[in-house]
Amino acid sequence: MSNPESSPSPAPATSSPAPVLPWILVGLAMLLISGAVGYFSFVPEVEPPPPGVAGDPFLMEGRAVFLSRCVPCHGPSGRGDGPMASGFAGAQVGDLTDGEWKHGDKPGDVLRVIRAGVPGTRMAPWGPLLEDAQIRAVAGYCYALSRLPVPDELREAEPN
Ligand code: HEC
Repeated sequence: MSNPESSPSPAPATSSPAPVLPWILVGLAMLLISGAVGYFSFVPEVEPPPPGVAGDPFLMEGRAVFLSRCVPCHGPSGRGDGPMASGFAGAQVGDLTDGEWKHGDKPGDVLRVIRAGVPGTRMAPWGPLLEDAQIRAVAGYCYALSRLPVPDELREAEPN
């Protein structure tokens, strides 16, 4: 006599799923690790700021802009030795630390080069990409890299 209520071994309600989640997590972790390794092997080592910069919020802002935008060509300390500095035709990336300015050393000259770029070279116009205050700050930082006194008018409004 068979009793339908007592089937021998009831099938488990849910068959246990293949353990996919741990593999997804492993994959994600590997992505993160390779991303971090790639990032740190391509970002050049950053040197400490030149004297007088660390305590100056204006120049520290300029440094932040410089490190995020200008280092590929100008190099972390402005010597023109960034990873994108060589291997291209056209004007070479100059040394921003030698106190000599090919395009002029007045604040207005430096601002003009940064805003409008140098046509025909890889120095692009940054005017459309950066806020005016960022441009003034990074111009000030170029003077600091050159160990030149940072012109006061850069900190204020519009020098020309
Ligand atoms: C893609 C490469 C590249 C990037 C990025 C770049 N520059 Fe330049 N920069 C150059 C080159 C090349 C020159 C030289 C142009 C010339 O000789 O006429 C130059 C020249 C300059 C000069 C003029 C130097 C002088 O002697 O008169 C200044 C100032 C300058 N760059 C600042 C900056 C700042 C600030 C940034 C970031 C906001 C920046 N550059 C980003 C390639 C670059």
